[in-house]
Amino acid sequence: MTEVQAFPDGLEGVVAAHTVLSEVDGQAGRLIIRGRSLDDLAGRARFEDLVALLFDGFFADLPADLTQALGQARAEVFAEAAYLDDRLAARDPVEAVRALTARLADGDDLPTALRLLAAPAVFTPAVVRAQAGKAPVAPDPSLPHAADILRMLRDAAPAQAEIDGLDAYLVTVSDHGLNASTFAARVVASTRAGLTSAVLAGISALKGPLHGGAPGPVIEMLDGIGSPQNARPWIEAALARGERLMGFGHRIYRVRDPRADALKGPVRALAAAGAGQAGRVEFAEAVEAAALAILKDHKPDRPLDTNVEFYTALLLEALAFPPSAFTCVFAMGRTAGWLAHAREQLAGGRLIRPQSVYVGPEPRQAA
Ligand code: ACO
Repeated sequence: MTEVQAFPDGLEGVVAAHTVLSEVDGQAGRLIIRGRSLDDLAGRARFEDLVALLFDGFFADLPADLTQALGQARAEVFAEAAYLDDRLAARDPVEAVRALTARLADGDDLPTALRLLAAPAVFTPAVVRAQAGKAPVAPDPSLPHAADILRMLRDAAPAQAEIDGLDAYLVTVSDHGLNASTFAARVVASTRAGLTSAVLAGISALKGPLHGGAPGPVIEMLDGIGSPQNARPWIEAALARGERLMGFGHRIYRVRDPRADALKGPVRALAAAGAGQAGRVEFAEAVEAAALAILKDHKPDRPLDTNVEFYTALLLEALAFPPSAFTCVFAMGRTAGWLAHAREQLAGGRLIRPQSVYVGPEPRQAA
């Protein structure tokens, strides 16, 4: 039998790739994306700028301004929204968006990558509208990506504060080291299956509540709590039942997730512009403070701080996305990271093929 090294549970601390794309410093609470600090990017860069930053060097034919190319890609993938039938529209939005994305052809080139970036941006509004009994709205290729997403969702022009809020979100979640969905995308890319296959693996991993599926349940928690006075008893009862608080804790960060703070500004700006329910942010901050105090007592040896999903929930709620579609909006941003990682893996990486240790029974000897 081959000598196999022991492995930590959940592969914690295992290094599985070299990357120029992003660094997550869990002790300092810092995120770097291609040499730029998140503080420098969120609220300043548009999603198109982030795509250019992540794709630079991974696609030879990258245009200087991606706005037009992405607009064209949205117009192309809209044809697939015609396959959104009643059965598909009745499913969880992330399953419906994944199924429509799976209709796109595999490939490794820039047009394939742009169509994959366009897919969640076009299909999510179409699915949300179908669930409300409304027809899809066709993309306007002349608009910036974030503005067109909100327009397709509502069939009305969004306010600038809303466009800025969505841009800040998409930039903030665009890449984050070797998280579960990015690892899944790199594994598939390493087999040379193609970018569509890699992105479908990413969407599937993102869907789970321990990863990108957490922000919808954050809204359920806030709605369940209802008032600041009820925060402590509600949270204590949830923990006593053995539940986890969504929007708190992280595998890498031992301090506050810097993405939570990157989103706090846009969340407050949206509230100041009148988006969302009045007093919602103040209420959520009271719940956050109670949760942090209780988690400290609950797990004194394990720092559990606010993660990106808590403020994601507030931001996407203020933009009028339904909680069931929050993971799809996460995918709109993270697809940029999956694609860059897939290309990086293809450029230099071998097939990812670790080993397992067999701990089952030996075959019986023939009599
Ligand atoms: N609420 C209550 N307890 C928690 C939480 C939480 N949010 N997070 C971790 N713990 C507890 C665990 O129950 C565990 O306790 P135990 O040792 O008694 O079993 C201990 O802290 C350590 O937890 P692990 O499972 O080892 O932590 P891990 O690094 O595997 O998990 C994770 C990280 C999945 C994010 C976890 O903190 C969690 O489930 N959080 C809630 C879901 C969430 O917000 N996910 C979004 C993460 S951000 C992102 O993916 C984009």
